[in-house]
Order: sequence, then structure tokens, then C-alpha cells
Amino acid sequence: LIAKAFRNQFIIPEFVQFTQRIDELFWRAKANTQGQLASYIPQLTRFNPESWGLAICTVDGQRYSLGDAYDPICLQSISKPLTYAMVLDEIGPDVVHQYVGQEPSGQAFNTISLDPMNRPHNPMVNAGAVVICSLLKQGMNLADKFDYNQQKLKLLAGNEYVSFNNSVFLSERQTADRNYALGYYMKEKQCFPKGTNLHELLDFYFQLCSVEITCDSGAVVAATLANGGICPITGVKVLEPYCIRDTLSLMLSCGMYDYSGQFAFKVGLPGKSGVSGGIMLVVPNVMGIFMWSPPLDHYGNSCRGIQFCEDLVKSFNFHNY
Ligand code: DON
Repeated sequence: LIAKAFRNQFIIPEFVQFTQRIDELFWRAKANTQGQLASYIPQLTRFNPESWGLAICTVDGQRYSLGDAYDPICLQSISKPLTYAMVLDEIGPDVVHQYVGQEPSGQAFNTISLDPMNRPHNPMVNAGAVVICSLLKQGMNLADKFDYNQQKLKLLAGNEYVSFNNSVFLSERQTADRNYALGYYMKEKQCFPKGTNLHELLDFYFQLCSVEITCDSGAVVAATLANGGICPITGVKVLEPYCIRDTLSLMLSCGMYDYSGQFAFKVGLPGKSGVSGGIMLVVPNVMGIFMWSPPLDHYGNSCRGIQFCEDLVKSFNFHNY
């Protein structure tokens, strides 16, 4: 890093000027007071609607954090692409996609629906994420599976903040009738590997939704994805490049709920949002950005986060196309 600094060989050489522009976009989004907090998980309604944090980490380790970037927040659905990437790394895409498809579902994230081959449509909707959880480290007990996931996440986050919010987990499990219905439906359709214990599996899925990070550590995760699976902070290779490619492809087509098509059109970058108000955005080969603000639009995406992403590609040439 220091050698690069002396040679001014950073991927974003004018980083100070860049962050000044980021500041402007951040404060413009802060003024946006639209949206509602997610209400179906009681614990999530307790967040302050004013909260707004953002962090950036480039593929060569330059960092910038703003606002509430150090508040712990739950990953919620942002865990979905990360678990998918881990499972790809473990068993490869051919096996994974015998169980789950690659098409946008065109339906809400928690819809009880499978594709014509009786697979969930993709790993970014609940059905797909639950199946992905069943594939991770089959044969391990729940405690070891959780440890494995946390350990991998910590590597993705460069050993920075990764924790667990037990009250969100309990709250989520208590209000999970739809996910139980989805689980039983998929069990009937034989969507899971043999020997899967459905209740343990759903606990694992709820636990992964309740894993905590901050925008600051989340930006490192996003930067590891932007950097082909090598963490820019530690230099550790966490995932194989093909896992990153497949994950980013599905984030681009399916990562932003029923706004995914419009987001891919307007922003042209892989992103994933969650009901806690987080958005993880990846600018491949450049940087990762993690944003958080609880008020959501009617698609379920953070209002301030979406505004920031759309303004970002108006200001900089990051749109993939
Ligand atoms: O399964 C649920 O209801 C949520 N915990 C899912 C989280 C989420 O962000 C929605 N995404 N697909």
C-alpha cells in the first residue's frame, strides 16, 4: 500500500477529490426522508429512521467512512449472496445449480414458488437462500456450520466487525410463518438434500440474516468481491474468482428485489439489499461500497441507498456499460 502511495498507483488516484464528491452525494441522500421501516420483524422497527451510514473500500485498500458507518446492523438478505459464494466454493456451480436456478423470479422475495424443475428461481430469494443454506457444509452440525460461516465472513471482512444479533434472530424466528410454509412446501417437493432437518435449517437461515456487520466492515466484504475474492486489507484469498463471477452475475440480475431490472439498467452494477436497510454495492475491479439507512421504498430497498447509487453513476463512470 505504501509503495503504491509513493508511486501514486492507486486505482482511484485522486482519492481526496473523489471523497469530496462522495460527501456531496451522501448529504444529498441524507435529505431524502421518504420510506418506511420494515415492520414484519418487530426488532427492526426500533431503528432510527434518520440513520445513514456509508463506507468505501477500494481494491487496493483505500478507505472512507461517513455518517453512521460504525453502527452494527444486521445483514438480513445481504447474507444471501455471501452464503451462495461460499457454497459455490465448496461444491461448485454444477452441483449448486441442480438445486437452484439462475433466473429472476419476477415475484416478491418471500413468494412460495418454484421453477418448472421444482427448484427455487435463484439464490437471492428466500426459497433459494434456504436451499443454499441446506447445501453449506452438509453433515456438519448446526453449531459448526454457524462457526464456518462466521469464520468465512470474517475473512471476507478482513477480520473487522462481524457479530450476531440474538434478539433479531429470536424476533425473526417468532414471525417466520411464511418461511416455515415455504420450507414445508420445498420439503414436499424434495428441494433439499436427503437428511435435511427443516427446523434446524430454518434456524440457520434466520441466524445468517441476524449476523451483524457495520458499513465499514461491510465495505471490506464488498471490496473482497470487487477484488475477485482476495481481501484487499489482509491479502488473503477467501474465495475462488469463479465464485465471485457467478455471485456478482446473480446480484446484478436478482439482487435488488423487484427493482433489480431497473437497478441493473440505471446503475449497471451488482448490488444486494436487505430489509434492515443495507445495500452492498460492488464496482468490479475498483471498490466495494456499503450503505445503510432503515427507511425502505415499496420494493424493500433503502431509499437513501438507492438515491446514492443512482447519483453515483451520474457523477462517475462506474456503470458497467
Ligand atoms: O426471510 C426473511 O423474512 C428476511 N429475514 C429476509 C431478509 C431480507 O432482507 C429479504 N430478502 N430477500
